[in-house]
Amino acid sequence: MNSPTTELRTIGVIGAGRVGAAVARQALRAGYTVKIATAKPADEISMLVEIVIPGAVAVDAAEAAAADLVVVAVPLHKYRTLDPGLLTRKTVIDVMNYWAPTDGQVDDFENDPRTSSEIIQDFLAGARVVKSLNHIGYHELEDDGQAYGTAGRRALALAGDHDDAKATVADFLDRLGYDPVDAGPLPAGRGFQPGTEIFNGSHTIDQLENLLAEACALARI
Ligand SMILES: NC(=O)c1ccc[n+]([C@@H]2O[C@H](COP(=O)([O-])OP(=O)(O)OC[C@H]3O[C@@H](n4cnc5c(N)ncnc54)[C@H](OP(=O)(O)O)[C@@H]3O)[C@@H](O)[C@H]2O)c1
Repeated sequence: MNSPTTELRTIGVIGAGRVGAAVARQALRAGYTVKIATAKPADEISMLVEIVIPGAVAVDAAEAAAADLVVVAVPLHKYRTLDPGLLTRKTVIDVMNYWAPTDGQVDDFENDPRTSSEIIQDFLAGARVVKSLNHIGYHELEDDGQAYGTAGRRALALAGDHDDAKATVADFLDRLGYDPVDAGPLPAGRGFQPGTEIFNGSHTIDQLENLLAEACALARI
């Protein structure tokens, strides 16, 4: 994977729920400027953001989408409420999972053999989508991060079709406290979707690499 060419300073987070807030707080700890948005106007969420994510800036979705790196953390069944135009040419981390018990049965995902992130990449056609941060619980995200080189450091997978975007995301994961592991192109995200061993556990880099290799061999990716 290539190294990111420029250092990221600002992270935009779209969705200020459990995962969005946890990613935002961890990114603040890592030294990023964080801009966070929901579907509501910024002034309607500014008080909540001040209390729940102190240090983050409440913004409208357009301003969050203008950040160097954008994390999309809305419930998957609401993905069509996102504005793809805002995310053109952006590197986007898709943290979303399809989980019928909470999302309801959504035809887009039930009747399409592709992974949810491939469907999101189609919808956000101009963006460079990287699937990651979907297989760690929001409650673990702020507790499990450790400095680079710490023995037993937890690893997180990423998958995407754009190497430069993956390099950017890998650097972000490292700064959040996790060893990044490139699983391959977007379809390789199948290996860490809900229901997989990776999704249900916590793994070091060696363990994750082995599990991903097994998953990719099974899926012939
Ligand atoms: N919970 C976990 O531990 C976890 C871990 C990894 C991944 N995930 C995945 O991450 C996704 C989000 O989960 P969550 O638990 O964080 O959900 P959540 O707590 O329900 O939060 C969702 C957030 O998205 C916002 N939102 C909805 N539509 C929006 C839009 N069009 N533009 C901007 N913001 C919008 C909501 O705000 P308003 O409705 O007020 O706008 C809310 O702030 C899900 O797909 C889930 O599977 C969850």
